[in-house]
Amino acid sequence: MYNIAVIGGDGTGPEVVREGIKVLKSAGDKFTIKFDFHYYDFGGDRYLKTGDTLPDTAITELKQYDAIYLGAIGHPDVKPGILETGILLKLRFTLDQYINLRPIKLYPNVETPLANKGPEDIDFIVVRENTEGLYCSIGGFLKKGTPDEVATQEMVNTRKGVERCIRYAFEATRKRNKKKTLTLCAKTNVLTYAHDLWWRVFMEVSKEYTDIKPEYAHVDATTMWMVKNPEWFDVIVTTNMFGDIITDLGAMIQGGMGIAAGGNINPEGVSMFEPIGGSAPKYTGKNIINPLAAIFAAQMMLDVLGEEQAARAIEESAVKTISRMKSMAAGKMGFTTTEIGDMVADGV
Ligand code: IPM
Ligand code: MN
Repeated sequence: MYNIAVIGGDGTGPEVVREGIKVLKSAGDKFTIKFDFHYYDFGGDRYLKTGDTLPDTAITELKQYDAIYLGAIGHPDVKPGILETGILLKLRFTLDQYINLRPIKLYPNVETPLANKGPEDIDFIVVRENTEGLYCSIGGFLKKGTPDEVATQEMVNTRKGVERCIRYAFEATRKRNKKKTLTLCAKTNVLTYAHDLWWRVFMEVSKEYTDIKPEYAHVDATTMWMVKNPEWFDVIVTTNMFGDIITDLGAMIQGGMGIAAGGNINPEGVSMFEPIGGSAPKYTGKNIINPLAAIFAAQMMLDVLGEEQAARAIEESAVKTISRMKSMAAGKMGFTTTEIGDMVADGV
């Protein structure tokens, strides 16, 4: 029995999460897994009504769950930054979800903008550090609003944070058992302190994983290879900011935001799973958004919870559903949001 906290969030978040839950319930019936879903209303609407984003009491409560299933955070009437830092980043940080796991996998029958590349070429995962780097909100202004203004934003890299992320990535590479190659994506030629730490820890830990080939690519080159030779990658490990950027590129080459999922993972605590596409406010309530990203997030949730068989069944059913769809884009799928959810749920 799994207790799952559900935060539908903003825009199309609740709609796609509904389909993911439909699929989870169906997988649960088939594989005799029980779920208990508890719904929370954190998001833009609640903030506009009450002024609060995520009260501390909620954090204490959320720590009791087996996992958190998140739709999307981002509201057109709320100034950028408030909900992102107040809800999404606060959850990642306070629950110490130090890994952001983002598979970049092109499924058969999904269109990629890369010419002459197919599912055999685009299949890797990005392990993004999720609690440090440029995301720590340390910094400030001096002489704000004047011509002499100074703005700083510090990048935090701790030995502990870097090492646990790199270790997770080596383990993930071993578990995948594909090319047995782990690429560190950083910028050691410019960030000669921060990324020197990453490089040293990477090389040191790699000595314990002699079955894994350690590779290195600067982040700018990484974006180049992701477009030109995505087949080179197996697992990429990288910093918070770089991971944010390259996984949006990754989402595009795997067929778009409609199918890209991510997991915010605390291997020793509570993890949170989400479609990475955002709240897509213009599609809200129209039943045209693609729920597959949320469904793949649910699949990842099961996988991390140790329900690997059920996770595989969801993936296989989603792949079958994809073969019937016209496109991965909202409004062009040939089916409604709920129909896609029904199809995947029926097929598990
Ligand atoms: C993501 C998002 C977030 C991030 C934003 C919404 C804070 O872009 O999950 O990739 O930058 O991590
Ligand atoms: Mn992002």
